[in-house]
Amino acid sequence: MAQILLPSLRRLALTALASLAMVLLGALLLTVAPPAAQADAPVDPATLAKAVVAMEQLDQMRIALASTLEGPSEEPTMETMKEVCKPVGMKAAAIGQENGWQVRQVAAKFRNPDHAPVGAQEREVIDLFLRQPAITGLWQPATAEQGAGVNYYRRINVEPSCLACHGTKASRPAFVKENYPADRAFDFQAGDLRGMYAVFIPETPQAHDTLGETPG
Ligand code: HEC
Repeated sequence: MAQILLPSLRRLALTALASLAMVLLGALLLTVAPPAAQADAPVDPATLAKAVVAMEQLDQMRIALASTLEGPSEEPTMETMKEVCKPVGMKAAAIGQENGWQVRQVAAKFRNPDHAPVGAQEREVIDLFLRQPAITGLWQPATAEQGAGVNYYRRINVEPSCLACHGTKASRPAFVKENYPADRAFDFQAGDLRGMYAVFIPETPQAHDTLGETPG
């Protein structure tokens, strides 16, 4: 009986999961739509949507990597311990390079000092994410220093699996204690705000051309 039921149950679960994913993505795109919808948006909506999807994938990558350290599997080795947030940072830089964006991780309680907030806008957005846990992502105009373009910010929350390295100060792995003397990224609890992804999408001449062009 159980054997007959199982495949259809699994199919049902998968369908439910897929529709949930679509609803979530839809909700996300709705939340972030306003600046893109404006006629004078400096960046075309397809690019904005691409940035949203890229940050969702980047976040999923970290969650997947961190979850490999969970559970009753054998003690993580030094090497596997290192394979969580460093590769996420490298992937972020690569996404930026591929698309002509700047992609950073930013955290008030940072581990790598390169990830400290830069400028008033980043500090304000982190503060907003802290005060408003329901806000997942938002757009802001580029700052005067950045020039023309837009910024997309996406929150990063702490999952239970993160606590292996971002839990109490004393429980941090040795490689963290040794390599990050200025570390502030500990004493988190699941559900806390850990930081955010910050994507700067500069206005490109192509974006302008496409908007200005009248086909035919
Ligand atoms: C195996 C240990 C480990 C685990 C597990 C881990 N991290 Fe990290 N995390 C680090 C290290 C080491 C750095 C610094 C990486 C660097 O130098 O760029 C870091 C950096 C970060 C940063 C960049 C900002 C900063 O403070 O430098 C974020 C954001 C972050 N981690 C979030 C998470 C989240 C969310 C999880 C769980 C899904 C997680 N981490 C799990 C070790 C870990």
